[in-house]
Amino acid sequence: MTAEIISGTAISRQIREELKQEVAQLKEKHNIIPGLVTVLVGEDPASQSYVGSKVRTCEELGIYSERHDLPADIDEQTLMSLIDRLNKDPKINGILVQLPLPKHISESNVLIAIDPRKDVDGFHPINVGKLMIGEPDYLPCTPHGIQELLIRSGIETEGADIVVVGRSNIVGKPVANILMQKRAGANATVTVCHTRTRDLVSHTRRADILIVAAGKPKDVTADMVKEGVVVIDVGVHRIGKTKEGKNILCGDVDFESVKEKAKAITPVPGGVGPMTIVMLMTNTVKAAKLAAGL
Ligand code: GUN
Repeated sequence: MTAEIISGTAISRQIREELKQEVAQLKEKHNIIPGLVTVLVGEDPASQSYVGSKVRTCEELGIYSERHDLPADIDEQTLMSLIDRLNKDPKINGILVQLPLPKHISESNVLIAIDPRKDVDGFHPINVGKLMIGEPDYLPCTPHGIQELLIRSGIETEGADIVVVGRSNIVGKPVANILMQKRAGANATVTVCHTRTRDLVSHTRRADILIVAAGKPKDVTADMVKEGVVVIDVGVHRIGKTKEGKNILCGDVDFESVKEKAKAITPVPGGVGPMTIVMLMTNTVKAAKLAAGL
């Protein structure tokens, strides 16, 4: 079996078109322009590239965007003052502080300082709690993007054995939570594996849907999956450069071998990555509507 390739590029394009129309209607009917601010601390090249893509996508969709790039040695109090100002700014509906932050800044202090109504990442403890009880306002972008990929590719999650590899607050924990919810596009039996899991392969081999966010290049190989599995690869690793100087990327899954056994698989790049950005835009539009009482 050679797998169907689940194209996050194509599916995210479709969602962007839907959003573009929604943004145009909000402007025309209600004179509302959704606004997103990105805050980047330091000069990590991957983070710079992600923030750049987010700003470009805002422009493409007609969403107002502001970008604050701050030096790596900024103190926590200065960052907090900026967040406080953005919380009060009516042009801004969504605040995204790119993670990871430098070690001298407390991530949890920063995330809790963002107004939960503007928390388009869904990382504020209030929004994490709302997801936990099945009443989310904002779903975290990468996990939400994974759910959309599955839904729009017609992959049934109801009753499926889903195995998640990785337990981060950004991907592993929330994606498990989303897919176990009692609702359409979820209703799965979810197992979360991590670095202390005793026999990882015994879990990955029984997965109907395997979601890998382990953070290690090509970590999941063909011998670790069953025939007909659906594989969602969340990893992004820069493993070299082409002659033209472009980054060569790979995921957490050994794509070439696993695609021979899988029913469907996401590529890297062009799988989960583009979905994360478009779900951020979805949350920003939602935040603008909520702020206007729509
Ligand atoms: N760093 C990696 N993924 C994310 C994300 O989804 N949101 C933010 N803010 N930072 C990230």
